[in-house]
Amino acid sequence: MEIRPRRLRQTPALRRMVRETRMDKASLIYPIFVREGIGIVEEIPSMEGQFRYSIDRLPQALEELQRVGVGSIMLFGIPEESAKDEAGSCAYARDGIIQRAVQDIKSRYPELYVITDVCLCEYTSHGHCGLLKGQEIDNDSTLEILAQTALSHVQAGADMVAPSDMMDGRVMAIRSLLDAQGYVTTPIMSYAVKYASSFYAPFRDAAGSAPSFGDRKSYQMDYHNRREALKEAALDIKEGADIIMVKPALSYLDIVREVADQVQVPVAAYSVSGEYAMIKAGARLGYVEESQMICEIAAGVYRAGASVYLTYFAPQIAKYMDEGRIG
Ligand code: PBG
Repeated sequence: MEIRPRRLRQTPALRRMVRETRMDKASLIYPIFVREGIGIVEEIPSMEGQFRYSIDRLPQALEELQRVGVGSIMLFGIPEESAKDEAGSCAYARDGIIQRAVQDIKSRYPELYVITDVCLCEYTSHGHCGLLKGQEIDNDSTLEILAQTALSHVQAGADMVAPSDMMDGRVMAIRSLLDAQGYVTTPIMSYAVKYASSFYAPFRDAAGSAPSFGDRKSYQMDYHNRREALKEAALDIKEGADIIMVKPALSYLDIVREVADQVQVPVAAYSVSGEYAMIKAGARLGYVEESQMICEIAAGVYRAGASVYLTYFAPQIAKYMDEGRIG
């Protein structure tokens, strides 16, 4: 008798047993915005459910994270508007917003894994990610400032730095300075594959980092390109990147897969602010069901090959994992 081909009929227990994609909370990173001031928790208008915190109010968010078992954060700093200048010098100030926030967080929660975003756009008066020469970004003069910024974060206690500026050579500049200063074991997660994307709009509102003229297309990637992603990843690994990030996530899952197949280091994917905002808006209108959508997208990101996942939904995902809905 010939056996008829058939699909495995899965009961809930069997479905969990044979899942091809496994995820765990340890791979989640929660992005969080910290601003100057005291006693401030302000909701970000285009990112319902996400807040800007002054340093003294961060514990409110961090304790909730600890409760649900998310152990890693990515910090973004929002300095006073008046502190910004052409050269982004408040990015590497010893008493800058990130430097003080990291010190405070590490003194209260030494086990929390603190990653800092290294970029100049939140700190420059013009909102670009690098220094300007006329209307153009001056790649090479930016490198030293980025390296100093990364160093100041690590000196404040950051466990890992994540350069997101997309200047050429910045991973090498950061690695060299960290090594020279004795921080040889501090890893670098590079936003290596970062597309020029409309999905960053809510973030730029949140961080007040929209460019005052032009766009970021001269330094971020063109979304028509696929092979360029592999080249960017390879270059950053050569310069010393320990983890390679692809960003955004949802429209770039093919890129996540391809990079994950090609590189020998862990790959991170970042579901960015616009992805978050879309789901929140859709759910608020009753057009989509939020929790199911969060689970499905998270599974898709890991299935594509990411082993680290940055998402504003990290606390919810951790809860859904506990409930056995995904994971
Ligand atoms: C800084 C930076 C951006 C994001 C992360 N780091 C904004 C940008 O490049 O314009 C976006 C994150 C998000 O949209 O959630 N350069």
